[in-house]
Amino acid sequence: MSRIVYVNGEYVPEEEAKISVFDRGFLMADGVYEVTSVIDGKLVDYAGHVARLHRSLSELKMKPACSDDELLEIHRQMVERNALENGMIYLQVTRGAADRDFAWPKDATPGIVLFTQAKDLVNAPAAKTGLKVVTVEDQRWARRDIKTVQLLFPSFAKMEAKAQGKDDAWLVTDGMVNEGTSNNAWIVKGGTIVTRHLGNEILHGITRAAVIRFAKEAQMKVEERAFSIEEAKAADEAFCTAASAFVTPVVEIDGAAIGGGVPGPIATRLREIYIEESRKMAI
Ligand code: PDD
Repeated sequence: MSRIVYVNGEYVPEEEAKISVFDRGFLMADGVYEVTSVIDGKLVDYAGHVARLHRSLSELKMKPACSDDELLEIHRQMVERNALENGMIYLQVTRGAADRDFAWPKDATPGIVLFTQAKDLVNAPAAKTGLKVVTVEDQRWARRDIKTVQLLFPSFAKMEAKAQGKDDAWLVTDGMVNEGTSNNAWIVKGGTIVTRHLGNEILHGITRAAVIRFAKEAQMKVEERAFSIEEAKAADEAFCTAASAFVTPVVEIDGAAIGGGVPGPIATRLREIYIEESRKMAI
């Protein structure tokens, strides 16, 4: 079924959408993006995604493509025009089109693209089965806190996991886990929940921040620190978080079963809380 997408000020059927071959997002991955989940036709954690978008843009000295009011209206239009009940809205802002040059133009008009992906995120099969992950040496650039569209290495790592018959890769540096290819990584040991501290090494997940808040509200102990592959393999539970995954259990790391190879109670509970609270707060 054809979707209505948004491209530089226009809502058009996806087959008719066009961008310039000179768009720097296309030529140089000179762009940033956000993925916002939609539950029951409402935007989840929207304010967090917009705040991170502004941070990504400002770190790359890029201009916003439109005002915040316009951006919210475009998101709402995407939901409405595509009759999106459950799924995701992808937003990409690029520095715009200019003749190819490593130096970027000061006056290019930013490019903006939005499209929807329908998916029943709440009832995703992975929530019940859990994911199997392998570890892969992290070869991304050093500013992973900026949500750029340079996704070739995460894509490569995901394919590496698939080639091994697994679901995803956890990217590691010196034996320490940074994050998943498109999600933040967590473990649970003795009731304490551990996820890597913020820094340039990982994306500052909007779902991660919400889950830390909900876990603390539920009197769970949370530690924000690096953890090793060995510590992860010996954990009682593991899981990942992302707008596209909410909280999804991880049941195997590099062939080692975690928590007997089935989703753990804390990950399962946090997923329930996240979905329940997101439904309440979605706009
Ligand atoms: N990815 N880490 C990385 C590298 C990510 O790409 C993502 C999200 C996250 C989780 O962030 P959040 O909770 O804000 O979604 C962590 C999106 C979903 C994607 O690329 O599809």
